[in-house]
Amino acid sequence: MTERFRSFVSRRVIGLEAYIGRLDLDVWEGALPPSPEELRERTYPCEGLVSMLTDRIDADFLNSMQRLKVVSNYAVGVNNIDLAAAKAQRIQVGHTPGVLTESTADLAFALLMATARNIITGTEYARQGNWQTWDPTLLLGQDVWGATLGIVGYGRIGRAMAARGRGFNMRVLTSGRSTFPMNNVEKVSLDELLSESDFVSLHIPLTPETYHLIGSEQLGLMKPTAILINTARGEIVDPIALVEALQTGRPAYAGLDVTETEPLPANHPLYALPNCVIVPHLASATAQSRLGMT
Ligand code: DGY
Repeated sequence: MTERFRSFVSRRVIGLEAYIGRLDLDVWEGALPPSPEELRERTYPCEGLVSMLTDRIDADFLNSMQRLKVVSNYAVGVNNIDLAAAKAQRIQVGHTPGVLTESTADLAFALLMATARNIITGTEYARQGNWQTWDPTLLLGQDVWGATLGIVGYGRIGRAMAARGRGFNMRVLTSGRSTFPMNNVEKVSLDELLSESDFVSLHIPLTPETYHLIGSEQLGLMKPTAILINTARGEIVDPIALVEALQTGRPAYAGLDVTETEPLPANHPLYALPNCVIVPHLASATAQSRLGMT
């Protein structure tokens, strides 16, 4: 954000108070995001737009802006923005890498632990009054310590996830083209990663190449006991294939922070699956990360 520009901020975010009065900001105060028409109308007189991942910044939108110079996305992912159209219009695009790396990896690991050890199912079981006795066969999970963790995408967040895996004495695998030092991480093909891992965690951006990268064939390669964690983007996993795979128990469990449709409709079959834990896109939802993003 710069003082010379008038900017539209498309949601109230924490920490904005520090800029009010210093910058020329028009802040959307709605509890829900602006509609595409409202976004267009409020951005039109501005040089800057602070967009959310819920805002579709497509070519049509960008081409209709006369003054817009900068779009700053309040997310690390920029799949909601047509980058080629922005470049063609000489509109600069910013995002929030770095500040949410650790909180996103924390949530991915939290989903891993929660699914591996039946934390959500166990909570519901106890809450509903089913805890009548100690049962040696009740809700048996999977060991995390010493298991194999497959990390698809070895960027900032993938590497932060690898550090957590190493802390749990895990064998850590990754696939892809990363040139970062591997630091006790084995580079394998995606197929090897899927078939050898006890936990598969996705940390790649959504691009045309990664759309539905994980479909029925890939899910079928996973161990029947394996667990899929997605804190990247929902569209990387084919949701129909995922429902079918979880229904047949291969993989055993999924922990999802993101889904292809967001919000996921209340009647979506994923909610009906006892082996699927879903949280509403919370990976960067800590006070510290949000302040860093602002
Ligand atoms: C991002 O920054 O892209 C995350 O998905 C937000 O949680």
